Amino acid sequence: MKILVVGGGGREHALVWKLAQSPKVTNIYCAPGNGGICQTAKCVPIAAENIEGLVRFALEQKIDLTVVGPEAPLVLGIAELFQAHGLRIFAPTGRAAAIEGSKGLAKDLMYKYHIPTARYGVFEEPEMAKLYIRDNGVPCVVKADGLAAGKGVIVAMTMEEACRAVDSFMNELSLGVAGSKVVIEEFLVGEEVSVMAFTDGKTVKPMVWAQDHKRVYDGDQGPNTGGMGAYSPPKMYTPELDKQITETILQPVIEGLTWENRFYQGVIYAGLMLTAGGPKVLEFNARFGDPETQAVLMRLETDLVDIIEAILEGRLAETSVTWRDEAAACVVLASGGYPGSYRKGLSITGLESIQDPDVQIFHAGTAIKDGQVVTSGGRVLGVTALGADVREALSKAYRAVEKINFPDMHYRKDIGYRAL
Ligand code: AMP
Ligand code: GLY
Repeated sequence: MKILVVGGGGREHALVWKLAQSPKVTNIYCAPGNGGICQTAKCVPIAAENIEGLVRFALEQKIDLTVVGPEAPLVLGIAELFQAHGLRIFAPTGRAAAIEGSKGLAKDLMYKYHIPTARYGVFEEPEMAKLYIRDNGVPCVVKADGLAAGKGVIVAMTMEEACRAVDSFMNELSLGVAGSKVVIEEFLVGEEVSVMAFTDGKTVKPMVWAQDHKRVYDGDQGPNTGGMGAYSPPKMYTPELDKQITETILQPVIEGLTWENRFYQGVIYAGLMLTAGGPKVLEFNARFGDPETQAVLMRLETDLVDIIEAILEGRLAETSVTWRDEAAACVVLASGGYPGSYRKGLSITGLESIQDPDVQIFHAGTAIKDGQVVTSGGRVLGVTALGADVREALSKAYRAVEKINFPDMHYRKDIGYRAL
């Protein structure tokens, strides 16, 4: 079987690593891939957003199955395009992926189907948004409606900050059209977890939980990033809570999407706050999370190709999905300056010195230059390890981190601290 993975980050490296273990796979391609992925897959220089280029490549190469990592091609309708050409693809349609592409739509759907989430209002007029903020008070959360690569959420502690965020999104269009509509939300307090699930549109099977670390500095300080590390399982996990989340959040959202003529197949990601009043949804994503997937796939026992085929054929209910009891942890090594500006093209050393079979180095922003692995993005590597428990997984990951170096390298020293 020939497989194409779309994307080029740590999540896609983890997907390529896991898919390549399937005895069904003969060839694996990745577009555009990165400096680590090209050691396992054949990387092809087509951008993830170039869905026309991707469909042409898949037709030419007779790709049997395409697996999509990032959100942009989903929202552009990559699934419909591939299906229209008779190509098998593991991705929700653009209409289904709107659960991530429009926060307003996601909130309205949650409201309609009684899925627990923060109280909110959706606004297309800045003055109305400010009126709502004045009526409901602070702290509150101001969210751009559209895709904003993690930059669309402002947690405002004061009225001034909240109104400033509204002006920036709606009047100055700091995020382009993504911010022309906003969601204003009640501020929730609790512990955050990421719960991803496989779904064929009928059955929902949650994966093991993860927790990511969005802030750039230790102690959850500094600006938000795409994620500085993740681990699984978080301490708050219980089978009862997992069941509750499946029954009150994951199944209802998939059913609601079907009712709304947005039939959903693929991976659904719920970012949750475990509040005193129970789990509440912060956001849905229509894809695997990054870096969560790097930790979670290390724990997946079942052949991922088997799971994907079962989903595409609507027989997830009869398919067993099993997980290792061990814990996993992923420490992201980032370029100094990220999430602001940073240098690129810097040599990475020490990669070949890591021999521990429980450690995988997933590449994110890397490239090959003159046969050398160099940095090419903000998040550079996801050093990921398995261990008997989170503590052991973390210590193996950090032991590996000590052997790797590149100029200006920055990483958090406290990944997983909430689990210890
Ligand atoms: P989102 O992209 O919607 O998940 O938001 C990014 C981050 O903002 C989340 O991971 C939370 O840390 C924070 N956040 C979002 N919504 C809320 C909320 N209603 N209350 C408190 N924090 C929130
Ligand atoms: N780690 C959060 C996300 O993938 O959106």
